[in-house]
Amino acid sequence: MTCRDLKINIERLMGRLRELGAIGALPGGGCCRLALSDGDRRGRDLVSGWMRDLGLEVSVDRIGNVVGLRPGRENGAPVMIGSHIDTVATGGIYDGCLGVLAGLEVIETLNDAGIVTAHPLAVAFFTNEEGARFAPDMMGSAVHQGALGLDTALAVTGIDGTTVGDDLRRIGYDGSTETGDFRARAFVEMHVEQGPVLDVEGTRIGVVEGVQGISWSEFTLNGVANHAGTTPMNMRCDAGVVAARIAIKARDIATAMGGDQVATVGVIDLAPNLVNVVPQRAQMTVDLRNTDEALLKLAEARLFDFARDAAASEGVELKRRTLARFEPVVFASGMVDLIETTARGQGVSTRRMPSGAGHDAQMFAPNCPTAMIFVPSRDGISHNIKEFTEPGHIRAGADVLLHVVLEKASN
Ligand code: GLV
Ligand code: MN
Ligand code: MN
Repeated sequence: MTCRDLKINIERLMGRLRELGAIGALPGGGCCRLALSDGDRRGRDLVSGWMRDLGLEVSVDRIGNVVGLRPGRENGAPVMIGSHIDTVATGGIYDGCLGVLAGLEVIETLNDAGIVTAHPLAVAFFTNEEGARFAPDMMGSAVHQGALGLDTALAVTGIDGTTVGDDLRRIGYDGSTETGDFRARAFVEMHVEQGPVLDVEGTRIGVVEGVQGISWSEFTLNGVANHAGTTPMNMRCDAGVVAARIAIKARDIATAMGGDQVATVGVIDLAPNLVNVVPQRAQMTVDLRNTDEALLKLAEARLFDFARDAAASEGVELKRRTLARFEPVVFASGMVDLIETTARGQGVSTRRMPSGAGHDAQMFAPNCPTAMIFVPSRDGISHNIKEFTEPGHIRAGADVLLHVVLEKASN
């Protein structure tokens, strides 16, 4: 058999996906392994163990990223395959995990075939890609690539009141490898699309050309708690009403702008959160995304101006904090072309597309040739326990990953 005919073993890959997905499993499917939780620790232990079993040299860095290295015939920067194994609280078993475990499947396929590549290979999982417990998202890969300071990341306080540094120590993943200056020879991430485009079209492989810009804000609104029955409507400072207006405005801005603009209010917390008390305080998040930086800035400006005026007219104090801000990213054309020609060479249908979700790959893009392979998500469902991708699509994507990696690691 020549290298050209090499194929991954889909049963082995699905077996690992299911075993990892059983950690933090939720009733009805999916799993919850929020970053640096006990579930995340158990997932990390399992995947690091698999890395060692495959003969990879495993290291943990100071933000808890785990890298398994496979030497090549020559020394030097590795071709890296990476993604994440943390999940949102209502996560599927594919988001992130697929990219990491497909990487391990590539390694095992090469081990079985006795192939040693010219350049080293590495498989990595990065800390807190989701950002659901600690903001910003893509935290580990951002620190790894020097886009976010280590100390800043370690000091972040999450939704449970603990810091990243404390929880890294607690779960035993406060490693010693330095971060910030690691440069890969190339970076490839395979991921489920998490949107409907490939599924609706019946296309097998998404060739990802870039990732849209992301803006996360937290608004804190301070009004006055008062009696729901006795306070005249014109004498209220109702933080809840201002939060509701901001949420509706976010939707209206995105709808009016059209194109790629999306807006999501994922969190609204009211205090004291009682039926007969005017809300004193509201804390909410707004997630704005666009593939065009100028349009993303326009959406931000419209929303922030509206929020300021809405708060002032209700006599409510408003504070805004940026939780995450990433500009749109364009992947290297040579890598995008390589993914497309490799997939077509294997006889599978492709379409070029942007990524709507954030990914670790975007942190590598400024520093090395980077690209992503998408496989279809059934009904476009993700960040939901019903997330599902057909094993046949996973096989096709992992075979593309294998041959893209082989190509990058031999030349
Ligand atoms: C990460 O999953 C994101 O929010 O895009
Ligand atoms: Mn992901
Ligand atoms: Mn995700």
